[in-house]
Amino acid sequence: MSKETIAKELNQQLKGKTAQEVVAYFLDNYKEVALSSSLAAEDQALSDVILKHDKSARIFTLDTGRLHPETYDVMDATNLKYNIKIDVYFPNEQNVQELYKTQGVNGHYESIEKRKHCCFVRKIEPLKRALKGLDIWFTGLRASQSVTRTEMPLVEYDANFDVIKVNPLIDWNEEDVWTYIKENRVPYNKLHDQGFPSIGCAPCTRAVKDGEDIRAGRWWWENPEHKECGLHKK
Ligand code: ADX
Ligand code: SF4
Repeated sequence: MSKETIAKELNQQLKGKTAQEVVAYFLDNYKEVALSSSLAAEDQALSDVILKHDKSARIFTLDTGRLHPETYDVMDATNLKYNIKIDVYFPNEQNVQELYKTQGVNGHYESIEKRKHCCFVRKIEPLKRALKGLDIWFTGLRASQSVTRTEMPLVEYDANFDVIKVNPLIDWNEEDVWTYIKENRVPYNKLHDQGFPSIGCAPCTRAVKDGEDIRAGRWWWENPEHKECGLHKK
């Protein structure tokens, strides 16, 4: 059976199960399983769900080199609380030097192409390395996060990275995330208290105003349909 068919069947089988049940199913039945964590609220809640089931489960983050200091603080707090070391993937050194030579420090503001190139060098290429050999890729994606995510299923085959991708929080809303964080005393990024509902790289994330969309602060100078960095294709 192809990975695509397996993913479709698993999606049917597991639809409607709780995040805890979904996480347990994959951790118990597959060997190479990992969560990619941006250290934002969803991923922090999901890390807690995962580590409660298996305290040696693999969690990795992509350190783009442009993260907020608060993101490193929550990485540190998470390592301490759970007595783990989140795996860190950095961009390839030569690629970053080349990126700087061709588009300077902040070329990503100049065009979508330049922005996507920066995301490719700092996120996509390292993600490819991180996902190599994985059976199951957990993410903290939620359907209600964005117009680009409403159709995302619980389990899907990701053809870009040739891996089965599982989104255990796909049906959670923002309130579910925060209720879980508070009830379970999960460490969270302090920027969330300063009007940042969604957190990525520092130069490409700003706080949002009351009533603004939760992803309005991500790549705020671009149209909503463009606001994916290539980690998650529509
Ligand atoms: S993004 O594509 O717009 O940057 P978003 O911040 O919403 O993504 O996060 C969605 C999911 O992508 C997260 O739950 C996480 O699984 C993954 N992700 C995003 N950024 C990172 C990162 N820096 N390191 C690891 N995983 C990430
Ligand atoms: Fe570069 Fe911004 Fe993409 Fe981060 S989010 S990799 S700084 S373009």
